[in-house]
Amino acid sequence: MSVNIRFESIKPRIGSIVHVDRASLFDDAVGQHCREMLEQRTVLVFPRLNLTNDEQLAFTDLLGSRLNLTSDAVSDDARAEDVYKVTLDKGVNRQPEYVLGTFFWHMDGLTVDTPPPKATLLSARKVSAKGGQTEFASTYAAYETLSDSEKAELEGLRAVHSVRASLRPVADVLPEEEQKKLEIGVIKEHPIVWSRKNGRKSLVIGSSAGTVVGMPVAHGRALLTRLVEWAAQPDFSYRHPWQEGDFVVWDNCGALHRVVPYAEDSGRMMHRTSIAGTESVS
Ligand SMILES: [Fe+2]
Repeated sequence: MSVNIRFESIKPRIGSIVHVDRASLFDDAVGQHCREMLEQRTVLVFPRLNLTNDEQLAFTDLLGSRLNLTSDAVSDDARAEDVYKVTLDKGVNRQPEYVLGTFFWHMDGLTVDTPPPKATLLSARKVSAKGGQTEFASTYAAYETLSDSEKAELEGLRAVHSVRASLRPVADVLPEEEQKKLEIGVIKEHPIVWSRKNGRKSLVIGSSAGTVVGMPVAHGRALLTRLVEWAAQPDFSYRHPWQEGDFVVWDNCGALHRVVPYAEDSGRMMHRTSIAGTESVS
């Protein structure tokens, strides 16, 4: 069956705008096209789609198996537990310090015992007047463009990922009673180079990576920082300037992401759903 869907590249190495009739959004063929393109293009942008929670959940289910990434979302409807509200508003999000961690390049789900989520889906319900853009950086492009000798140096290296590392940029200003939150999650070792089932390789880096196994701490952190800087270069990255109603899906296993800082009282509100990973880092 053919569907009326068109993908318009944003940059050669990352990002596509998806042009699709809203009426056919939930067709299986659209889901299949989007799954394929997500793997190739890393970020899919559906401008001004204005999905309801139920529609976002239906589209999430079309792409894969829905994952409840965070269990403490505040419910305002029966199925809200699968729709996580990303906001700095303390009245809505009881743990906004986690959202502060999102100001720094990271991948989701590297400090749990299950495979990292395959994809994350965000609907912009309310945008911030200042800041709040989401940025994505392709960890496929970052690996594939390294020189052969750089690739050889990374082969076999492993990094240690922890919540403590991912909150390091804000750890020294966390109030005493919040310090215990640095200890949540599990400490996981992952290879820096991820050999994927699709035959490609990508980097597993970002703020959760604190040290490199077998390397002096400063040397390891410097290497990890340089790799993140490499991945974030303009040719491999895309900054999405949100408009209300925009819907963006990205391949969490093939990209770093972060948000440009925004104010607590900006009203910014994103509704997030996640798709379970099917591939462990190896
Ligand atoms: Fe995230």
